[in-house]
Amino acid sequence: MNKQLLKEQAFINGQWISTDSTFEVDNPFDNGVIAKVANCGPEHTEQAIAAASDAFKTWGKTTAKDRSNLLLTWYQLIIDNVDDLAEILTIEQGKPLQEAKNEIIYGASYIKWFAEEALRINGDLLPSPDGNKQIQIHKLPVGVVGIITPWNFPQAMIARKVAPALAAGCTVVIKPAAETPLSALAMAELADQAGIPKGVINLVPTTNSSEVGKALTSSPTVRKISFTGSTAVGKKLIAQSADNVQKVTMELGGNAPFIVFDDADIDAAVDGLMASKFRNSGQTCVCANRIFVHENLYQEFIKTIGKKVSELTLGNGLSDGVQITPLINQNGIDKVLRLIKSSTEAGAEILAGGHMSKEFENIVEPTVLSNVNADMDIACEEIFGPVIALISFSDEEEVIAAANQTLAGLAAYAYTEDRQRIQRLIQNLEYGMIGLNTGMLSNEMAPFGGVKESGMGREGSKYGVSDYLDIKYACIQ
Ligand code: SIN
Repeated sequence: MNKQLLKEQAFINGQWISTDSTFEVDNPFDNGVIAKVANCGPEHTEQAIAAASDAFKTWGKTTAKDRSNLLLTWYQLIIDNVDDLAEILTIEQGKPLQEAKNEIIYGASYIKWFAEEALRINGDLLPSPDGNKQIQIHKLPVGVVGIITPWNFPQAMIARKVAPALAAGCTVVIKPAAETPLSALAMAELADQAGIPKGVINLVPTTNSSEVGKALTSSPTVRKISFTGSTAVGKKLIAQSADNVQKVTMELGGNAPFIVFDDADIDAAVDGLMASKFRNSGQTCVCANRIFVHENLYQEFIKTIGKKVSELTLGNGLSDGVQITPLINQNGIDKVLRLIKSSTEAGAEILAGGHMSKEFENIVEPTVLSNVNADMDIACEEIFGPVIALISFSDEEEVIAAANQTLAGLAAYAYTEDRQRIQRLIQNLEYGMIGLNTGMLSNEMAPFGGVKESGMGREGSKYGVSDYLDIKYACIQ
């Protein structure tokens, strides 16, 4: 591995900075310590904000073409280093190496996309109502952005936020998750190698998440907060950011329904569910959470999915062919075990798994539960683990109502061959993203985001850059 990518210091104003205290980053597979990383506090965050503010004076005025070219150089360096970046990601996050490579390429695709979008940030020239004035609309970068990213996609979520910010002409202060700062630091190193000017990207690793978050929201210099993580933390950040009327983009928790109608291609539905549910061992916001299967094919579905789940390979993400890896930490494990226990106590049946792996610590067996109902905790909470919770249904209206019976509104999935039903589902499912006959819907060209308590704003797509822009209207006579 290229050791230059294994950074342990904070990155502020183009400098790698040590702090008085450090924190350990563990490999979730064996709890071994893999790095000791600078532990930043509010004072480092303030330095980073000051550096970002200073850099904004020039970065905000560079040409779109220059910003685009620098983003493309960064993109290319990420692609050139994909193997090393993937290894870092797997040892700190746990996911299988092939999935880690997929994440690096997925993250990089946002950088390329926004390098291209940078060239298309246009204003407007409008007619005035009385004919003797000219109306100009300018699109300007909002300024310094505070970026707070999660541990489940430690590389891609940085790329998806930083790339549109930089494309718009903003500068950033990033707080990566304490569990996974190394992927973030490697991204900063490559941004530096790409020639992105000092102060444009600043990174403050920390275990003092709430203090650093507060330093970002309480600074009048920070004009926007972009956060991916839990709904509970998102709500706090929204409340805090009100003091400075900061813009916010919030990508929060989900509780995705996955509906299999009786006219569905059952093999395709099973494959789609496996892909959606077991990506990152069930630790994604868009993972299928409640699996509604029509009663006419329930028994056949159970048999097929049970067989597929029992064939999954568990182990160290670095080993070939492994599909299910450890959950991120003990809290994650405890939550999944609690949900399995409470649902079986309430009448659900374990068809596969249901326990910790006997062979590997920190791995929860991929689990299938039948006889789940919509009121059980497992159907009301985001599982964030490798558990399929099956609920039987008989009627379209009933299942749409059940699917919408949650405050979350991120992703929903449905399998059906009926084109008219597809249109009804698009209209009636209260979600920001809907996968129809597919279990995988994320890509850089599509707007990622939710409704209701799953958040606000969109990432990726032609809409993703607008969250980083202010509109200025000039009226000229
Ligand atoms: C997430 O789980 O937060 C992101 C998943 C994705 O981008 O597909």
